[in-house]
Amino acid sequence: MQSKQTKILMVCLGNICRSPLAEGILKSKLPSTNFVVDSAGTGDYHINEAPDPRSIQVAKKYGIDISEQRGRQFKVSDFKNFDFIYVMDSANYTHVVNMAPNPEDAEKVTYILNEVYPNQNHSVPDPYTGGIQGFESTFKMLDDACNRIAEKLQS
Ligand code: 4NP
Repeated sequence: MQSKQTKILMVCLGNICRSPLAEGILKSKLPSTNFVVDSAGTGDYHINEAPDPRSIQVAKKYGIDISEQRGRQFKVSDFKNFDFIYVMDSANYTHVVNMAPNPEDAEKVTYILNEVYPNQNHSVPDPYTGGIQGFESTFKMLDDACNRIAEKLQS
């Protein structure tokens, strides 16, 4: 019998810069038969929008197509549907944990960079207001974190 799929959700504020990259990167490292990866924003600014063109550009440079993704807002039912919820920064963390229906669901929420720097609660800085270089460094941080996540989930 096939075991249940593991479901991972990436969360940032707008769901157009960081979490779409995190979704695309992690998807590229895991077999889709066993894993579902999605992303969402805590804000409602960019619902149904494509990712920021700079995120699309940087992902494409590394062979990942995120152009078909569309923005959506994080919702309480995501706690039921996902096994792991990775947030980018402390504002995302507070927002999502405060929506958790119970302590067990709150424990699903992790700073994504804690996979690289355990227990340090480092944030992935929001590259939205800067230039393309910020998106490059965002990609590298998320790629490191997703390597750890992919190793952990498949070990
Ligand atoms: P993200 O970046 O959270 O990495 O998608 C942002 C994009 C847009 C906005 C905020 C953050 N915004 O306020 O429009």
